[in-house]
Amino acid sequence: MPPKRLEDKVAIITGGASGIGASTVHVFHENGAKVVIADIQDSRGQAIADKLGENVVFIHCDVSNEDDVRNLIDTTISKFGKLDIMYNNAGIMDRPVDGGIVNEIKSDLERLVGVNLIGAFIGAKHAARVMIPQRKGCILFTTSACTSIAGLSSHSYAASKYAILGLAKNLTPDLGQYGIRVNCISPYGVVTSMAEGITEDQISKLENFLSDLGNLKGEILKPECVARAALYLASDEANYVSGLNLLVDGGFSVVNPSLLKEIKSSSH
Ligand SMILES: NC(=O)c1ccc[n+]([C@@H]2O[C@H](COP(=O)([O-])OP(=O)(O)OC[C@H]3O[C@@H](n4cnc5c(N)ncnc54)[C@H](O)[C@@H]3O)[C@@H](O)[C@H]2O)c1
Repeated sequence: MPPKRLEDKVAIITGGASGIGASTVHVFHENGAKVVIADIQDSRGQAIADKLGENVVFIHCDVSNEDDVRNLIDTTISKFGKLDIMYNNAGIMDRPVDGGIVNEIKSDLERLVGVNLIGAFIGAKHAARVMIPQRKGCILFTTSACTSIAGLSSHSYAASKYAILGLAKNLTPDLGQYGIRVNCISPYGVVTSMAEGITEDQISKLENFLSDLGNLKGEILKPECVARAALYLASDEANYVSGLNLLVDGGFSVVNPSLLKEIKSSSH
């Protein structure tokens, strides 16, 4: 049996009912953590909690609603006595907008910022409220590879995720004085809820499509790859890691393939 890397830790995972969040719930649970799933999808969240047993609970929480988040943190403390890890993962996406900024709509920006950024802000604030007296803790955010390379998403989505990265960096000195670490995880494209209602074969085609577009060949980015990055950052192995934007993108955001492609095609 591999060692349990989160033994005795208490974690909240927002957006834990689906995709990256649900995978992280499983990985944290397997590693000995007590886990609170926070989501607006009640039946899915509750079903995961029921399956995993008494150390996993579901709490309904809309991350953009401060009363819900306050209740989430306070209920976690009443149930488990402390909070070690707050993973602000809940988020919404939109489709890439072909026509550029002139075709983007202010209400889409407001919707994305309302969940992605405001949810991250409120989640960090209320987690810090209970972590500061503990003099330790770990706050994580799911951002996106679009915080490292441009042109992957709509401007609204990119702005919402860049803003979380800015928030995380600014929290690092504020919370570092209390022993609280703050880090971001930025994945490349992962097939998650977008794949609902499609066949295994279609999921695999989508994954292969993303893999072919990516830099690292022969690997598929699955939700559990992101969950394992969260496991590392949440564990004591990362006890001196703070202020990091951990890209889980197979090198995609540091590579400009244009020149290499040109050289390869001209040599044929
Ligand atoms: N899938 C990707 O390619 C990808 C890439 C980079 C970053 N991300 C980010 O990863 C995170 C997880 O996304 P995913 O791909 O697992 O998607 P997903 O849709 O499978 O999961 C997102 C979860 O967040 C929940 N959620 C949405 N709004 C909420 C709210 N207001 N309050 C509480 N919960 C809410 C949903 O119900 C869902 O369970 C998001 O922040 C997303 O922006 C995803």
